[in-house]
Amino acid sequence: NSGSFNVTAFTEEQEALVVKSWNAMKKNSGELALKFFLRIFEIAPSAKKLFTFLKDSDIPVEQNPKLKPHATTVFVMTCESAVQLRKAGKVTVRESNLKDLGATHFKYGVLDEHFEVTKYALLETIKEAVPEMWSPELNNAWAEAYDQLAAAIKTEMKPPS
Ligand code: HEM
Repeated sequence: NSGSFNVTAFTEEQEALVVKSWNAMKKNSGELALKFFLRIFEIAPSAKKLFTFLKDSDIPVEQNPKLKPHATTVFVMTCESAVQLRKAGKVTVRESNLKDLGATHFKYGVLDEHFEVTKYALLETIKEAVPEMWSPELNNAWAEAYDQLAAAIKTEMKPPS
């Protein structure tokens, strides 16, 4: 049936895995955030150029105080995305916020590749941060929550109207 579609429900277990592991990571969120972004730049050094505050700065990347907030935001919003996926079956960032997010990432020239590298770095960072909690299910739950959030941002990546 060509009209069929695939809805994979995000389960309560998946939500719990994400929320529980984030609660365990939170106390080190500053350190984690830094690791997360250094990992991104290790894989994709050119991504540094996207961040104006890195491009125009003489401070070494790892000491730049502006780096952590974005990295922490990605963690927090992915975690919130997991909660919403379970509750509503979709990512429900308030629409105006989603539009701003889309417009900002469009404006700074963020590409699909950057979202991919960021996903990889996020999952690696989590694996290192909570090895005792880590499982393929945990990994997949974070991956799914991130993918859905990234997809929602990407649909709004166009010039502001
Ligand atoms: C800005 C979240 C992925 C690069 C922002 C802002 C938020 C955010 C909340 C500030 C909001 C605003 O100014 O409108 C996210 C989330 C992501 C994500 C939740 C993934 C799910 C990425 C990726 C890149 C990226 C993959 C590139 C590697 C940037 C840049 C800015 C930005 C360059 C502007 C920073 C500046 O002020 O120079 N992001 N982001 N983001 N993001 Fe992201």
